[in-house]
Amino acid sequence: MRVVILGAAAGGGFPQWNSNAPGCWRARAGDPAAKPRSQISLAVSADNANWFVFSASPDLRAQIERFPFLQPRTGLRSTPIQGVVLTDGNVDAVAGLLNLREAEAFSIFATGTVLGVLDENPIFEVLARDIVRRVRVPLDEPLLLPLTKGGTSGLTLTLFAVPGKVPLYLERPGVPPPTVEGEETVGAEISDGRHRFFFIPNCARVTDKLLARVEGADALFFDGTLWRDDEMIRAGIGTKTGQRMGHISVGGPDGTLAAFETCSIARRILIHINNSNPILLEDTPEHAAVVAAGWRVGEDGMEVEL
Ligand code: MLT
Ligand code: MN
Repeated sequence: MRVVILGAAAGGGFPQWNSNAPGCWRARAGDPAAKPRSQISLAVSADNANWFVFSASPDLRAQIERFPFLQPRTGLRSTPIQGVVLTDGNVDAVAGLLNLREAEAFSIFATGTVLGVLDENPIFEVLARDIVRRVRVPLDEPLLLPLTKGGTSGLTLTLFAVPGKVPLYLERPGVPPPTVEGEETVGAEISDGRHRFFFIPNCARVTDKLLARVEGADALFFDGTLWRDDEMIRAGIGTKTGQRMGHISVGGPDGTLAAFETCSIARRILIHINNSNPILLEDTPEHAAVVAAGWRVGEDGMEVEL
């Protein structure tokens, strides 16, 4: 299996278009210790020919142009992209689908709830339903991912609930959304029969159930949105905590590094990293702490061969 991070940043990317913060300016200036990152997406292939994209961010068009393995190779029009797997309905997870219009066949895989978000928004009808299949994936039921022209990809997908919340744009004004564990926010387990890894870009809490599930995995790509829960408030750039946004923090006694400390997972990589997170800057103590804990800070183009 080849697994390639197309985009390692959270919604907004790094630098974020309207951020005047020092970290974003270091990224704009080409500082090698502040590498720019596009918004969340992962590409996976079992045969190095057919690819599945996990999370379709608004940067998907640029990501396809950056990574030749996602570009057309046959006929006048074609794509190696067989499917797009959605783990939630946030803007940074679904808006990239709009780049994939132009009557090209592929499939969208998601829970009924996330497909419902697409169904209710007519702009996604640009992906004509007789050409682009919408496949409902029930939680905890392994699905052998099919190829567009028939046959199987060799990859098995299992979606499972993680603590999270509804997308920001579906929150009711003035009412903090409850943390739910259902079809709104899911993790993905991908297996080729020999190796298995996890893609979990959003997660509010690491439960015992989640720890048991990921135990022994070959790789874990996990929510690295914020270093600390009140990071955006302290930086003066927002009023919400990470918990309010449905994200566990990386550091601290209740954070991701601590939560997975005793887990046996071969490779641990943080993804969906917000532009405010100091781990994006390679000369910070927070970046050093991530590395010391056996994790890597995800970067665009980072590849894992399993
Ligand atoms: C999130 O991951 O919290 C969301 O993508 C936030 C957003 O929609 O901006
Ligand atoms: Mn997001």
